[in-house]
Amino acid sequence: IVQAETICVVGVGYVGLIQAVGLASFGLKVKCVDLDACKIEMLKKGVPPIFEEGLDEALKETIARGLITFTTDIAAAADADLFFVAVGTPTSERTGNARLDYLDAAVSDIAAVAPQDAVIVVKSTVPIGTCAGLQARLDRDHPAKRLQIVSNPEFLREGTALKDFFNPERIVIGGAGESARERVRRSYAAFEERGVPMILTDTSTSETIKYAANAFLATKVTFINEISDLVETVGGDIDQVARGIGLDSRIGPQFLKAGPGYGGSCFPKDTLALATIGRRHGVQQQIVETVIRINDSRRFHILKRIESAVGDKLAGKRIAVLGLAFKANTDDVRDSPAVDLVHALLEEGADVRSFDPVARLAVDHRSYRQCDSIAAACEGASAVLVATEWAEFKSFDFAAVEALVARRYIFDMRRIVDVTADWVPRWDIERIGSPLMRASL
Ligand code: UDX
Repeated sequence: IVQAETICVVGVGYVGLIQAVGLASFGLKVKCVDLDACKIEMLKKGVPPIFEEGLDEALKETIARGLITFTTDIAAAADADLFFVAVGTPTSERTGNARLDYLDAAVSDIAAVAPQDAVIVVKSTVPIGTCAGLQARLDRDHPAKRLQIVSNPEFLREGTALKDFFNPERIVIGGAGESARERVRRSYAAFEERGVPMILTDTSTSETIKYAANAFLATKVTFINEISDLVETVGGDIDQVARGIGLDSRIGPQFLKAGPGYGGSCFPKDTLALATIGRRHGVQQQIVETVIRINDSRRFHILKRIESAVGDKLAGKRIAVLGLAFKANTDDVRDSPAVDLVHALLEEGADVRSFDPVARLAVDHRSYRQCDSIAAACEGASAVLVATEWAEFKSFDFAAVEALVARRYIFDMRRIVDVTADWVPRWDIERIGSPLMRASL
């Protein structure tokens, strides 16, 4: 790769850090800026503040090669010509809109130090029209600098973010000016050489692509969850239904795994933001609104099922929750169905013991305990809930905890427990997407 531009990444949270380390791995020089001094100190030492496969090694390597540096001072990046902004856009509790204060502040800080003709690339997920608004503001406040805004959404999944960065299925670049788009495109030359499609478009289209992609995937998950509810009642196997429809290439096999509903830092936030944008513009997004409603109520229905399984009263009963992360291979508990369940169970008066191989949950409640093994979480439990699809739950031999539990009942929300195992006939097993399997002994 030819070093086309000096690159600065502002905001080294999840997205920013992967972007920075990814570009640096291509041999580009990247300066990272973040207001959080603690985080910057950690990163300087090569310690990533998040758990992500391969990141630790890639970070240390790019630091050792002198390709990536970290600072809290944006002025230290005044020589950059390409600024990627990846600050948070959390949902406002009050309005349901994505909050743009961090982004506005970051763009103002960049504009104050950036050289003429610099390009500011928005990686954060922002409401449609945000980039156009930022461009108008820059044209007004810094006319002589001719700064250009480009939208370049990310499609990284937590847990495989670095892998996703290096294997994109498309790169979306939206901007008013062709020259700015081309400059961003050049920073992804390595992908273009491999034939990755580049979508060069306007900022609104680019912003819409990001929301539409996440909303569509959330809809796919919600759709299979609803079919899963049907299968539980009428009989059948949801995984086979998913396979049977997913092999149709018009549908595709991914995002058809039935479960406790989608969670995490993106789907809930982005679906809500899209619904809010639609309402604000008088074009109600009815499908997405329905998806949000179904997904929210799913957690409540799951609680009802657990209640009826343990005999209607949860108060005083001990419940083991296996898995806290919103999905496997991440320590992220944001908007995790498992965490909502822990809170709901505690509210019902249950005594909750959880175990997660990586994720931690701070709940200050006398009836809640985080355990350091599956067995410790299962001790005295009237129900064992499998809430995250960690591999170690899949292979776990529940015979080892038979003598510990108060009742041999598993509710597998992820359909990962091996139902062909020897111990299975001695347990009552309920799985999302299958009729109840009662103990045969
Ligand atoms: C998502 C998008 O995939 C990514 O492109 C975007 O940039 C950020 O949001 P992520 O939040 O990391 O990534 O998680 P993802 O793997 O997409 O899963 C989202 C949620 O859907 C999780 O709660 C997951 O458990 C659930 N899910 C996903 C299912 O229940 N079934 C599936 O088949 C797939």
